[in-house]
Amino acid sequence: MLSHFFLLHSSGARFKNRGFMIPFRIKVVEPIRFLSLKEREQKIGDAGLNVFRLKSSDVTIDLLTDSGTSAMSNAQWAAMMIGDEAYAGSTSFFKLEKTVQELMGLPFVIPTHQGRAAEQLLDFTLVKPGQMVPGNTHFDTTKAHIEFRGGRCVDCTIKEGKTPEGEHPFKGNLDIQTLETCLKKEGSEKIAYVLITMTCNSNGGQPVSLENIAAVAALCKKFKVKLFLDAARFAENAYFIQQREKGFYEKSIGEIVQRMFSFADGCTMSAKKDGLVPIGGFLALRDKILFETMKPHDILFEGFYTYGGMSGMDMEAMAQGLKEVIQKDYLEHRVGQVAYLGRRLKKGGVPVVEPFGGHAIFIDGREFYKNVPKDQFPAQLACVEIYKEGGVRGVEVGACLAGRDPDTGKNIMPALDLCRLAIPRRVYTQEHFDYVAEIVLGAHEKGKGRKTGLKFDQETPQGIRHFTSTFKYV
Ligand code: F0G
Repeated sequence: MLSHFFLLHSSGARFKNRGFMIPFRIKVVEPIRFLSLKEREQKIGDAGLNVFRLKSSDVTIDLLTDSGTSAMSNAQWAAMMIGDEAYAGSTSFFKLEKTVQELMGLPFVIPTHQGRAAEQLLDFTLVKPGQMVPGNTHFDTTKAHIEFRGGRCVDCTIKEGKTPEGEHPFKGNLDIQTLETCLKKEGSEKIAYVLITMTCNSNGGQPVSLENIAAVAALCKKFKVKLFLDAARFAENAYFIQQREKGFYEKSIGEIVQRMFSFADGCTMSAKKDGLVPIGGFLALRDKILFETMKPHDILFEGFYTYGGMSGMDMEAMAQGLKEVIQKDYLEHRVGQVAYLGRRLKKGGVPVVEPFGGHAIFIDGREFYKNVPKDQFPAQLACVEIYKEGGVRGVEVGACLAGRDPDTGKNIMPALDLCRLAIPRRVYTQEHFDYVAEIVLGAHEKGKGRKTGLKFDQETPQGIRHFTSTFKYV
């Protein structure tokens, strides 16, 4: 199933021997800084060996996140100039609402300032203490919001999605048997809703197939529970469906997106990813009653329901971004660029999660440092050492991020301990990735004999700890 996809990209998109043809040209540039090794060692030491605590001005290539870091198009900048800043009934909101309705087929749209605000709104309304939210490896803020409401996440990701190797084309899929057992055991009263994250960020940016979305939806219908999509990277997911799932190669991305959302009761969206904007998000719903129930909460926490934490300018840029993100040449280049970096690292012997994800390359920390014990945060160590080697900033998606079990207080040991190199959209070129590959390969080579990793210096006691904790070398 994957052969066609790899063929397309291994020949350098549509242009033989010329690498990827970038479907845009660059009009505005932003200088980047190179620090000396001594300076980098100083900076990461001062940051308590936590890349979140670095200043971005001390980073040369910033692959911390693909969230809110896209370059906007000339059409998006132009759209911002016609932003309507009315408190109520802004024309920019109606433009955004129409775009979402046409794109996703969901009639009711509540704007929020970013994805987690949509999660907050959804969980405030739907999650009661003791209820479950089954899904495919929930993202950290998603999980935290569910737990904050007293709910619990049940991870139903397929077993292939929990290993770094293998060629499964849809490692983000849910295991239908596990989900059915969970729904049967708990009964509909104990299930707040089912959530599909597409692509699945936490297991490597892996996509979910339409066949799987349909099968999950059928189970939800049978057990009378709602199905929501975490749509942060919906366009990348649709592209993988087009390239990898039988019967969709001839379909447009727009048609595939329509199909994906046709199975859902609604979605949360962080437009900082596939909305191609620095800030913004929304919650979209099929049910009017639910929509009316949520509106007052949006007003209380986000702002009036025709702006929800965004300016008119933000909504204009997002509406335009949502149109650009489903263009095939954009997606071909985008996903191809990520795969280019993946191939370069793999060729150099760096252990990377395969198939390559849609928004990032994930390095397997436990293989990168084979002799560093699992509980000494090898992926976090990789982030630190890659920064030191050449100012490239990735982020840990592993044992530190997994945190502690809210019931037992024990450290959770996740199936994968990854260092993520997330690729901002339309920002870096192939030359930047050649540099990144050289740096990662250099750090890998230097770390080969390494036997010890990191321990907490100061662990943030509550909630999401990876942003603020500090570390020491063991
Ligand atoms: N869902 C997924 C799958 C995400 O990846 C994120 C954010 C969110 C929800 C929350 O959205 O940031 O707009 O509030 N992911 C970022 C990342 C932060 O770096 O992967 P948000």
